[in-house]
Amino acid sequence: MSKDVRILAIETSCDETAAAVVVNGREVRSNIISSQIALHTLYGGVVPEIASRKHIEKINQVITEALREADMTLDDMDAIGVTYGPGLVGALLVGVAEAKAISFARKIPLVGVHHIEGHISANYIENKDLEPPFLCLVVSGGHTHLVKVEDYGKYEILGRTMDDAAGEAFDKVARAIGLGYPGGPKIEKVSHEGNPQAIAFPRAHVSEGNYNFSFSGMKSAVLNYLNGCRMKGTTICQADVAASFQQAVIDVLTGNVILALQESGIKKFALAGGVASNQTLRNAMKDECTRLGVEFFCPSPVFCTDNAAMIGAAAYYDFMAGRRDGYDLNAVPNLKLGER
Ligand code: KG4
Ligand code: ZN
Repeated sequence: MSKDVRILAIETSCDETAAAVVVNGREVRSNIISSQIALHTLYGGVVPEIASRKHIEKINQVITEALREADMTLDDMDAIGVTYGPGLVGALLVGVAEAKAISFARKIPLVGVHHIEGHISANYIENKDLEPPFLCLVVSGGHTHLVKVEDYGKYEILGRTMDDAAGEAFDKVARAIGLGYPGGPKIEKVSHEGNPQAIAFPRAHVSEGNYNFSFSGMKSAVLNYLNGCRMKGTTICQADVAASFQQAVIDVLTGNVILALQESGIKKFALAGGVASNQTLRNAMKDECTRLGVEFFCPSPVFCTDNAAMIGAAAYYDFMAGRRDGYDLNAVPNLKLGER
């Protein structure tokens, strides 16, 4: 029997300081996340400089905790996987510097991981039989990508947002209706009390590129609606605005996914990214997949929002493909998917 491959994974691209131990890409032995959400809530969004400082404070603690919970030491590790982009440059640098230092001191191979590749790979953790090819929709605070996963590490981007990411739109609308940061979970919560059909926000269809998305028009429509209500002196029902906006986002996302599934004939679909933790979106995508006879996959919410286990899963397939990085590995804030 071949030897297990144990990876220590590190993720610091935005506002979570995270470390995990993952065995053979799919077995999560520990998944430690130190969230800075409470800290950034004070400012209504992520403050990059504060994020970097907090990562420095927490990084050693989360790694120690990840190894302790996995009941392993650095000597047991076969590789170190670390997110090197895309993300906030100062935040990424903390994880990259830490990974390089451990790699150098302990002579453990280093593997730089693309953050989006991590989100996609989160689907491997709880679905041991999932293998490419499949279609994946990555919806997070910084990205909205419809990706054809052709093989491990091999991606074709079919569509992407032309302006705001889906999560970014959730965050901006939440702020506008007084829900605060982070917007996604708060909009989802109040939507349960609202009517998704109450307000007809526009569903933008981008003519350029079949599967591209646009959310800034929808966000502006919400702002215009709120201004209109204020000018007319009509009461704003926060729950109806939230539910109607959420429904509009879901309609646009499912619309492109249905089209891509029908046109490509792919029979497996996976959701990924922070917005994928939205239960209404998960249910809508699942229903559409059932209707189309497509197998549906989605990670548990803890593997949807930023975490290091997903980075360990992605690092495993890169490691097995022979990828190794040197001590010149640098943070690349705007790293493109599939770029090495
Ligand atoms: O993947 P993630 O943790 O970080 C990035 O890579 O961006 O995603 C964070 C984003 C935020 O915009 C947040 O508002 C959104 O995911 N989000 C949600 C939900 N939970 C998190 N959006 C909608 N519904 C949710 N339940
Ligand atoms: Zn992310």
